Amino acid sequence: MSDFRPAANPSIVQTQAARTPGRAHVLVIGNEKGGSGKSTTAMHIAVALLSDGARVATIDLDARQGTFTRYIENRAAYARRKGLDLPMPLHAAVQASGDSADEKARFEAALEPAVTTADFVIVDTPGSDTHLSRLAHTWADTLLTPLNDSFIDLDLLARIDPETLKIVRPSVYAEAVWKQRQVRAVQGARPVDWIVMRNRLSSLAARNKRDMGAVIEALAKRIGFRTARGLSERVIYRELFLNGLTLLDLKRGSGPSMTMSHVAARQEVRDLVTALNLPPLSPAAPSAGPATPTATPSRPAAE
Ligand SMILES: Nc1ncnc2c1ncn2[C@@H]1O[C@H](COP(=O)(O)OP(=O)(O)OP(=O)(O)O)[C@@H](O)[C@H]1O
Ligand SMILES: [Mg+2]
Repeated sequence: MSDFRPAANPSIVQTQAARTPGRAHVLVIGNEKGGSGKSTTAMHIAVALLSDGARVATIDLDARQGTFTRYIENRAAYARRKGLDLPMPLHAAVQASGDSADEKARFEAALEPAVTTADFVIVDTPGSDTHLSRLAHTWADTLLTPLNDSFIDLDLLARIDPETLKIVRPSVYAEAVWKQRQVRAVQGARPVDWIVMRNRLSSLAARNKRDMGAVIEALAKRIGFRTARGLSERVIYRELFLNGLTLLDLKRGSGPSMTMSHVAARQEVRDLVTALNLPPLSPAAPSAGPATPTATPSRPAAE
């Protein structure tokens, strides 16, 4: 941590309005804390973008656990069983091998077709510090970090004084993101737009919720991210996995019937996608068929 000196958040002033021609916008979902909702969020954002007519590619870097991959397989199986035409992403999973050069080659082999044929690439990462995850972070145009509404999860971003709730110092994941930002800066890539979203928010106005909110806003200025309101705690998120569905699909009349709570939850997902401030689709997409690559994707260094 000795040389950790994060700059002011470039994402606060940054506009994502411009899309690099012929190159997808890369959204990485990352947090070294396990179980924060990365795969659930990745799937919901993928389907939200698909239902807006975008071409979406998805990459699972947590292939051993394979939640994202299973979610998409479950979706394909459900569509087949029910004879539905559900929008599907172009999906790839990259296995860890323990060999950095091999992992870099296989990650880039998965990324290359994704960035040249899709409008958005969504990368789900494992809840731990791995080489593949670090590699993906250097490619992120937008980095979304879901955070369970708990000081246990916040501990990976910063150490907090228990008496005053003041930030003592940034911690491991904040430092990792800072390092990936430096790699991108060296490569001349545009700064990553880092967004932290709270997940599994309680509907109660509990003290923990209020304290977390205050600390996260202070931390945003200190280590350079912006915040999105995030998703409430709802059982429906756990129920949809087996059929590969998301809240965005319920309006199609597939799967469980909608309740008022589901309508509110779906709006939260929509609000989250809006808060990401992703670049608009290029005019030719999506009905013009597969994109013709017009530019070789710029490559940040591996590490
Ligand atoms: N908003 C929510 N409300 C209720 N349950 C949720 C919510 N978000 C996620 N979950 C549940 O929390 C658990 C962890 O979610 P998920 O697998 O998406 O996290 P993850 O960060 O990808 O985990 P890992 O680090 O292990 O890959 C799952 O059981 C999921 O159904
Ligand atoms: Mg996961």
